[in-house]
Amino acid sequence: MGRFFISVQPGHEEALFREIKNFWFEMIDLDGLPTRQPVPEPQIVSGGVQLETQDHLGYQINFFSKLAGRVLLRFTSFESRYYDQFEKNLEKVDFSKVLDLEFHKNQLNVKVESHKSRLNNDKNILEAVQNVFKKKGLKISDEAVQTLFIRIEKDKVTLSLDTSGEHLHRRGYSAYRGEAPLRETLAGYMIFRLFEFTGHGSEVFIIDPFAGSGTLLFEAMSADRPNLERSYPWLNFKSVPKLFKSPTWKKNYRGYSEIPAVSGAAIDKDEKSISNIQKNSVDFKRLFQLENIQLNESVADSSQLDLKTFKKDGRQLWIVTNPPYGMRLADEGARTILQKLGEEADGLLVIHPEKWNFNFKNISLKFTEPFNNQGLKLKLSLFSKN
Ligand SMILES: C[S@@+](CC[C@H](N)C(=O)[O-])C[C@H]1O[C@@H](n2cnc3c(N)ncnc32)[C@H](O)[C@@H]1O
Repeated sequence: MGRFFISVQPGHEEALFREIKNFWFEMIDLDGLPTRQPVPEPQIVSGGVQLETQDHLGYQINFFSKLAGRVLLRFTSFESRYYDQFEKNLEKVDFSKVLDLEFHKNQLNVKVESHKSRLNNDKNILEAVQNVFKKKGLKISDEAVQTLFIRIEKDKVTLSLDTSGEHLHRRGYSAYRGEAPLRETLAGYMIFRLFEFTGHGSEVFIIDPFAGSGTLLFEAMSADRPNLERSYPWLNFKSVPKLFKSPTWKKNYRGYSEIPAVSGAAIDKDEKSISNIQKNSVDFKRLFQLENIQLNESVADSSQLDLKTFKKDGRQLWIVTNPPYGMRLADEGARTILQKLGEEADGLLVIHPEKWNFNFKNISLKFTEPFNNQGLKLKLSLFSKN
């Protein structure tokens, strides 16, 4: 059993736990079959969810969560009020229980955070770590792939090992980005909220009239698929279950290849953005084994867009978008365009400044919630016919 802390944008903790519950039984046990372990009781705190579960399940959250920023394995904790006490306690910690230190060339990246504690100077704390590491034949290095997080809260020191490596928003399909792209974990949150409302299924056709590099559409198409192709440091843990050392372990998740992904249309007036989407889709298809995605991308001014061209019996047309707003990009009448398109669609999910108002006849507001994007205070609103 391990204690895992899964970090998420503050405000999205409850949604993260709902997401984990949704994919829990897609994760596998050590025999390669869907897990029989129940979903653990969470501890929801600001900025994350803590779960106590078997290690192999905690690790797999990295594959499935589209909301999480990072998954940390809580390694050990102890009380320390003074540096000598801290050093003594740290000396007792045996990292080689989990880490193959030789593989890591005896180097670890160390990140320190301290709140409401006597030990509160990051530089001094790092110096103390260095003293202990020296005795253990270890070195602190920014280049190391394995990070050790040291968090001191009210004189309680918690050591955690990072299991994610690069932040989880780095899915691997975003080599080509335009201006003001939406972080994949935020786009993933929007798509999660959309499918909570509509139910996940191919009868939803998603149109992003301000597509940029296509993050929202890529997140929609990969919503229920694990990201198995990225590198994750836990795969190098000494304690990694044998199953994940087999050259064919990814085949245990093969069920996904049979589910069709949702389809959609990406529209942007900027040629470079559409070309970025086309280039990114090469990596995207490989990462998520989605060779046959139906993504209709075109260079066009969305004010001229006629949604009728996308209408088809039995499918709902949803506008899902992060339009231009605020200081960095001129607004360019985006609100007016959305007011028109929303009227023709079955639903609209949009990030917008607090002062934007919409007045629809055909769709009505189902929820609106605060949304923080790069320090801008925005709202996420969902309007729907039903
Ligand atoms: C905030 S960005 C979208 C970012 C996108 N969500 C992403 O993650 O990459 C807004 C985009 O809207 C496009 N845009 C602005 N006005 C437009 C219009 N009238 N028609 C089509 N695209 C427009 C811009 O070229 C820009 O790429």
